[in-house]
Amino acid sequence: MKLTGIEGSTVLVTGAAGGIGSAVASCLATAGASVVAADIDGERATALADSLREGGSTALGLRMDVTDCTDVERVVDTVERSVGPIGILVNAAGVLGRVAALTEYEDAEWERVFAVNAHGPFNCMRAVGRRMAERRHGRIITVGSNSAAIVKTGQGLYGASKAAAHYLTNCLGLELAGLGVRCLVVAPGTTETAMSRTNWHLSGRREALLHGEQDSYRVGIPRGRFAQPEEIASVVGFLASDQAAHLTVTTVTVDGGSSLRP
Ligand SMILES: NC(=O)c1ccc[n+]([C@@H]2O[C@H](COP(=O)([O-])OP(=O)(O)OC[C@H]3O[C@@H](n4cnc5c(N)ncnc54)[C@H](O)[C@@H]3O)[C@@H](O)[C@H]2O)c1
Repeated sequence: MKLTGIEGSTVLVTGAAGGIGSAVASCLATAGASVVAADIDGERATALADSLREGGSTALGLRMDVTDCTDVERVVDTVERSVGPIGILVNAAGVLGRVAALTEYEDAEWERVFAVNAHGPFNCMRAVGRRMAERRHGRIITVGSNSAAIVKTGQGLYGASKAAAHYLTNCLGLELAGLGVRCLVVAPGTTETAMSRTNWHLSGRREALLHGEQDSYRVGIPRGRFAQPEEIASVVGFLASDQAAHLTVTTVTVDGGSSLRP
């Protein structure tokens, strides 16, 4: 099935230097979008955009800190003026934070995880959502996490921050549903990127993540393997396309069956 409604659109992807963000940027560039790859790591975002342009796509790399609403407004304004009206926003920037018991977290850890994972999507969705509402057209996809809906030990801050991002995205989707703006969450399970590799490295939990861990209420991954970033990106691509025109205010979980949803 050829995806339509993406070619010619201006797409802003946050966290585009990361594993999932760069796969999403590549997927949408291949579908013919003009991709703005934004990340706090501006050098890697620019390198990604350079490689997409070498492949024949239209792409621009920018530094943007999603936690800074002034920076977000500045970048959104620049993109709209120099590239075009943003038709698709993908919120992929995120941090895992430390795996620890809730009672062990420092204030600064709470602030950082929520600043990136909850405040970040809010800043971006507010800036872009207003413009999309005026134009009565747009698609916003937040890369959340299956952790938002499963209580797990050691991930209190991360799961709570992702639950906030899910709620914000679906709430905006409800508020803008009549204005032609669709808002969706893609909730990955463990995916092979720098983020998950750091987690395994620090805590030696690769096998537990894969096969389940009774005391942390983990059920493992029935599919028997982790996701590849491209398998998350292809779902984002579908949701951004006209083939998903009636999908909004919902969460698509892409986790190899690990959250056992009915
Ligand atoms: N990898 C997994 O197992 C997994 C599972 C579920 C959900 N997710 C979510 O998927 C998204 C992408 O994660 P990933 O696995 O590609 O991780 P990653 O660490 O490879 O990429 C995250 C990117 O976000 C960027 N970033 C961090 N803080 C930022 C800020 N303040 N402003 C702008 N950019 C910032 C980083 O520089 C990095 O490039 C995240 O939101 C993550 O929570 C990942």
